[in-house]
Amino acid sequence: MQHSDFFILVSVAVICFGSIDKISGNSPPLKIHINGTSVPSKLSRFLLEAQTALYHWHPLISSRLSSPNYTAPPLIYLNFENCAKYSAASHNFGPFGRITACTPHYLAHPTDIGSLITVLTFIIQNYNIEPRPAHYVTYGVAQYVRRYMYEKEEEKKVLKKPGPTSKFDEHSTSSDDLAYFFNYINLKFKMEEENEEMDFIQLLNWDSREGKFNSSFWEDRLGKDVHQLWAEMVKEDNSLN
Ligand SMILES: *[C@@H]1O[C@H](CO)[C@@H](O)[C@H](O)[C@H]1NC(C)=O
Ligand SMILES: *[C@@H]1O[C@H](CO)[C@@H](O)[C@H](O)[C@H]1NC(C)=O
Ligand SMILES: *[C@@H]1O[C@H](CO)[C@@H](O)[C@H](O)[C@H]1NC(C)=O
Repeated sequence: MQHSDFFILVSVAVICFGSIDKISGNSPPLKIHINGTSVPSKLSRFLLEAQTALYHWHPLISSRLSSPNYTAPPLIYLNFENCAKYSAASHNFGPFGRITACTPHYLAHPTDIGSLITVLTFIIQNYNIEPRPAHYVTYGVAQYVRRYMYEKEEEKKVLKKPGPTSKFDEHSTSSDDLAYFFNYINLKFKMEEENEEMDFIQLLNWDSREGKFNSSFWEDRLGKDVHQLWAEMVKEDNSLN
């Protein structure tokens, strides 16, 4: 990090409201506004890390989840509130992305940048036109991004393969198992098509974003339904990470 960047970041924490512009490629300049006026000074370091992480990951996630004619909101507001309900963070869709982060959560978990990456991903996914995809698609894609992009780079964690007797259930399969499954399909798809360009995550994201996802997606794209694909995955001996 350069000196001048550091100065700007520090002044954000001191003034508690600020933005930095960054220009990447042809996309509009990215702005992350952080409003930390209500945040205790104990969290100043967290604010700096959050801002740095959002700037770093926004373009990477936008590119991983790209689709024709779509630009992720280049303006993100991150506001802190003393939420009554104990949760990490939530988001709103719109011409700009708004993340509401709950101060009590971050006081208790002052390193939890991952939860902000998840809500940033929801904003970039923008599954906001009807019919919306099934919840498991929204959460599975977001968890794929968190586990296989963010954590793989930042924390070097790997996910465990779902158990051999597990079954896919769109209401109860955990986000981690969904992330594992989506990663498995993504790798398998590239191998079977013998085409590195084939990207299952992008197809799933594209259909979901445009309101075109329904349960026939699996048959149409992969020739098998989601339950069959899951059963094949748990039967295989190897683990993919
Ligand atoms: C910043 O956050 C404080 C406390 O949550 C709020 O009262 C204020 O309106 C916010 N400012 C802006 C510009 O959103
Ligand atoms: C993108 O937008 C252009 C102009 O509106 C349109 O002609 C084109 O078909 C769109 N492409 C896709 C894949 O939706
Ligand atoms: C599901 O989506 C496909 C592809 O967009 C479409 O052809 C099909 O009619 C849809 N099925 C239902 C039941 O909506």
